[in-house]
Amino acid sequence: MPLAEPVSDVDIERIVAQRVVPALSAQGFCWLDGVLGDVTGGAVLEQVRRMHLSGALKGGQLMRAAPGVKRSAVRGDRIAWVCGAERGCDAINALLVVIDKLVMSAARTLDRPISHRSKAMVACYPGGGAGYVKHVDNPNSDGRCLTCIYYLNKDWNTKEHGGLLRIFPEGKPYVCDIEPLFDRLLLFWSDRRNPHEVQPSYATRYAITAWYFDSEERAEAKRRCRERSGTTQNSRSSRSTTNTILLL
Ligand code: OGA
Ligand code: MN
Repeated sequence: MPLAEPVSDVDIERIVAQRVVPALSAQGFCWLDGVLGDVTGGAVLEQVRRMHLSGALKGGQLMRAAPGVKRSAVRGDRIAWVCGAERGCDAINALLVVIDKLVMSAARTLDRPISHRSKAMVACYPGGGAGYVKHVDNPNSDGRCLTCIYYLNKDWNTKEHGGLLRIFPEGKPYVCDIEPLFDRLLLFWSDRRNPHEVQPSYATRYAITAWYFDSEERAEAKRRCRERSGTTQNSRSSRSTTNTILLL
């Protein structure tokens, strides 16, 4: 059921209880299809396309690149950070409202202190084999707890277009491949339990990602970063802190 239609919080609670919490607890990741429906999902796609065509998406910085490593060798996406209140972002905002409700409900059931998220990262892999090498979003306890990715790709044909998200669940003998299909929302724990990669994409591949913070881990990370005052590391981390949105 599209969650952006007038939908009661009871419906969200039900989906979270039946699908999201059991999957996150058992395997550490979960995806839902038909999250916004064709109309609202289509509006999100249109807003992302406009951003792309207007040149708003840029090759961003790598947080921890070794010296001499080119960004494009690690990740080939172009990105922009949005909070949803910007002009031309109302559908993206509607998406964030739905994800916030889902995650807050899951956090309550799982008893995780989640109260903030990052801004939304609008990302485009422009084709030509662009991907993102295997990585962990939060390997060193920076506070990010849950990664939520909403995919926007209609008529995606994996055989032709590649672009799978492959998860390598920690300690498991299998991998899990997720197609970046229109109106699909993927959630996974951001820590070392879920190394993942974006396989080379041969068509334009759009997604929107938001990271939710565990407020205790985040507070600890900020404390560590204050103690290391004056270093480059510190100024980078405090910049990323300003990307945080308070939810409650
Ligand atoms: C990321 C990432 C996955 C995807 O941006 O950190 O892993 O499927 N993206 O776009
Ligand atoms: Mn990632």
